Amino acid sequence: MIGRMPLAVLPATVTDLDQVLRDHSRFWGDRDLRALHQPVLVQQFGSTCRVARAEDGIRGYLIGFVTPDRTGYVHLIATRDDARGTGLGRRLWTAFTEAARARGAVRLKAITSVTNEGSIAFHRSLGFDARVVDDYNGPGRPMVVFARSLLP
Ligand SMILES: CC(C)(COP(=O)(O)OP(=O)(O)OC[C@H]1O[C@@H](n2cnc3c(N)ncnc32)[C@H](O)[C@@H]1OP(=O)(O)O)[C@@H](O)C(=O)NCCC(=O)NCCS
Repeated sequence: MIGRMPLAVLPATVTDLDQVLRDHSRFWGDRDLRALHQPVLVQQFGSTCRVARAEDGIRGYLIGFVTPDRTGYVHLIATRDDARGTGLGRRLWTAFTEAARARGAVRLKAITSVTNEGSIAFHRSLGFDARVVDDYNGPGRPMVVFARSLLP
């Protein structure tokens, strides 16, 4: 019944972050990304972060903000294992894009590891250009950089 329950997409709070961390493996599997979920991000940028909430809890979330050069940057996005492939990831990016545009963003950006094929396919489906940038995270640590213009 995953698709039937009403789902609200709302700005995120530190309480939401806490709930997500308790369910961490349902969002990230074996990868331990807990250290990237700093409360400061939600404290300072909660108005551009989004959480998708249903009766059965948080189904997906996005942590993102607008940088001084007017880039809408998404630091983390994940949907719960039982909510994938239902359009929720796209909905979270759309909600973030609206919030980022309203705050002056003219482009969107995100990064992922070169081995995260699901994330690369997902962002390509959403119209992002994807390219590998050598040494992005330091010497010998490449990342895939996703970019999309918001200009007409
Ligand atoms: C990546 C992720 C957020 C996608 O969320 P989702 O809710 O399944 O995505 P959606 O259902 O909104 O899919 C949107 C589009 O992306 C495509 N897509 C999503 N995941 C895909 C995958 N693994 N392989 C191929 N295509 C994929 C869908 O087919 C869909 O395409 P369409 O709209 O053209 O039909 C989700 O798989 C996830 O949480 N993964 C684990 C965490 C992660 O790696 N996050 C990204 C780190 S940067």
